[in-house]
Amino acid sequence: MREKIIIDTDPGQDDAVAIFLALAAGDRLETLGVCAVAGNVPVVQTTENALRIMDVAGRRAPVYKGAERPLIYALETAEFVCGLDGMDGAGLPGAVSAPETEHAVDFLIRTLRGSDDGSVTLCPLGPLTNIALAMRLAPDIKPKVKRIVLMGGAMNLGNITPAAEFNFYVDPHAAAVVFDAGVPIVMFGLNVTLRAICSHEQIARFAAAGTATGRAISGMLARPRSSSLGSVGHPIHDMCVIAYLLWPELFGGRDCFVQIEMGDGSLRGRSTVDWNNRLKKPANALVIDTIDAESLLNRVIETTSSLS
Ligand code: RIB
Ligand code: CA
Repeated sequence: MREKIIIDTDPGQDDAVAIFLALAAGDRLETLGVCAVAGNVPVVQTTENALRIMDVAGRRAPVYKGAERPLIYALETAEFVCGLDGMDGAGLPGAVSAPETEHAVDFLIRTLRGSDDGSVTLCPLGPLTNIALAMRLAPDIKPKVKRIVLMGGAMNLGNITPAAEFNFYVDPHAAAVVFDAGVPIVMFGLNVTLRAICSHEQIARFAAAGTATGRAISGMLARPRSSSLGSVGHPIHDMCVIAYLLWPELFGGRDCFVQIEMGDGSLRGRSTVDWNNRLKKPANALVIDTIDAESLLNRVIETTSSLS
């Protein structure tokens, strides 16, 4: 049985690698849809980028445009990291396909309501605005979700601020809604995704596939960056989410209570991970903290070589 997944995303170079991986693993993952959300760049651009990724991969899933801004705060984007169109280095042409007319949140609600309990995995790779809106509009969808495997937050780390990771910083209220929903969560924070880095030799192997996808991935990973938010190399944060679905044995973690800081001060968006259970509160996430990065990248290179 293939695992049914919905990807919620703000492409974003690392989102693109995650989407390529999911499409390449179509024998194990059934991607029901790709929902674009405002994050790295505005949602019009993240929607366009999701379509550009599909067009080059040669395999596709329906794309839905989602939320234009966070639940409460104004949108803050990250063009200074990912480039004006969010896909610096990919060298991709404009999209030739079009998004669906249905809003992403309506797609999430309709699809989950039409699914069996515990049958659909949500894979958020950006701010959690779409997911939170769906849960607030239709709480009845929660039992339909098998698990939420997400990239966001961190343990005692930040990138966009010293205290917070970008996805949770942009929409901390949405992150709080999701972590309070009582749905099984697997959390990939910066503490582990900053180790998902491609070596120069591995970047060359993406290009050696001789495909448009391989050229796009190697171009994105080899690009010079105006800002790396302090990271070494090009961490492929979001790829870890899809890789976990395929190869969970490459990762390790611990069930923890995680709390999101929603105030608009210096701690905005911080995810406080109670790794040693000091608060004695029930765990609301499996927090991943170990990764076999070498094996992971080798398997991603091999799997994505099947795309066009
Ligand atoms: O902080 C890293 C996360 O923010 C990644 O998902 C990246 O794509 C951006 O959305
Ligand atoms: Ca992302």
